[in-house]
Amino acid sequence: MTELSPLDAAGVDAAVAEALAAFAAASSLDELKEARLAHTGDKAALTLANRQIGGLEPAEKAAAGKAMGAARAAMGRALAARTEELEAERDARVLVEEAVDVTLPVSRQAPGARHPLETMQERMCDVFVSMGWEVAEGPEMEAEWFNFDALNFDPDHPAREMQDTFFIDPPSSGLLMRTHTSPVQVRAALERRDALENEGRGIYVVCPGKTFRTDELDATHTPVFHQIEGLAIDRGLTMAHLKGTLDHFAKSLFGPDAVTRLRPSFFPFTEPSAEMDLRCFVCGGEDPSCRTCRGTGWIEWGGCGMTHPNVLVAAGIDPEKYTAFAFGMGIERTLMFRHNVTDMRDMVEGDVRFSQQFGMEI
Ligand code: DAH
Repeated sequence: MTELSPLDAAGVDAAVAEALAAFAAASSLDELKEARLAHTGDKAALTLANRQIGGLEPAEKAAAGKAMGAARAAMGRALAARTEELEAERDARVLVEEAVDVTLPVSRQAPGARHPLETMQERMCDVFVSMGWEVAEGPEMEAEWFNFDALNFDPDHPAREMQDTFFIDPPSSGLLMRTHTSPVQVRAALERRDALENEGRGIYVVCPGKTFRTDELDATHTPVFHQIEGLAIDRGLTMAHLKGTLDHFAKSLFGPDAVTRLRPSFFPFTEPSAEMDLRCFVCGGEDPSCRTCRGTGWIEWGGCGMTHPNVLVAAGIDPEKYTAFAFGMGIERTLMFRHNVTDMRDMVEGDVRFSQQFGMEI
């Protein structure tokens, strides 16, 4: 293709006419942009012609400059006019396409909320996960052996009845709905005993989950509830480690001033056994009319103790080499006194307004 000369009036006119036709034919702003680049861009014939003016004889410069100036002005006007038209068309189209019918009925679906038992359970586990403990889970329908026998309950120990067990039919199935999360202790220990023995890795687990007892639902009982269990097995663990762990747990949930106290008690799977109380975090033991601790200054929180050697043996662990401590508490109960929930039924009914009060985090 021969280059267009700025002195070739007919050629310049033809190039301008071609550009104007292309602008007029553009049916969208994108197409117009393409046409603009093709006819006025760096490689367009008229742009290249314009660049030759500098090299012309002085006598020719004026005429060429005038012709090119007129050509550029004509294209500029045509571009501006077509741009305006196409923008107006686009605006009109967007107005129609994006119109909103403000009279349409809105969706009134309320946002949900996570259940506070769930978020409380997570928060409790997080305290232990941040110390390097593992979270372990076990089945809700459990073998009687794990729920009772392995935990050193005598075959006719009254505690079996005391725990108001849901047994699974037929009785020969040997199955029940677990009455506590303690059976997960035995499962978790069995699963980890090789790493303990061969790699010296201490066993540190928390086991949260659902538990079941044949209670009627009322303000202070529910047949399905939740517990969290803790178990530590290692060389040389003592009651001091248990107490320190529980203190840290209490401070993490109730603030730096939290204090715990152990009272002698009995559980078949621990020896010695203790009840764990929390100094009332509302009145600090100062207010005889306090509703949270009923004036006693202490809140019963859970059970704990040094794991009974028989339990370690059931889990295949040598009680001569290793010692262990364990603890367990109710999550509903914790939620009740930590948040002043007075009726357990609020926790099971599933009314989202109850959950929403706790927000997404507690
Ligand atoms: N499993 C007991 C219960 O449901 C609670 C408990 C007591 C758990 C002492 C423990 C423990 O791990 O050491 O009442």
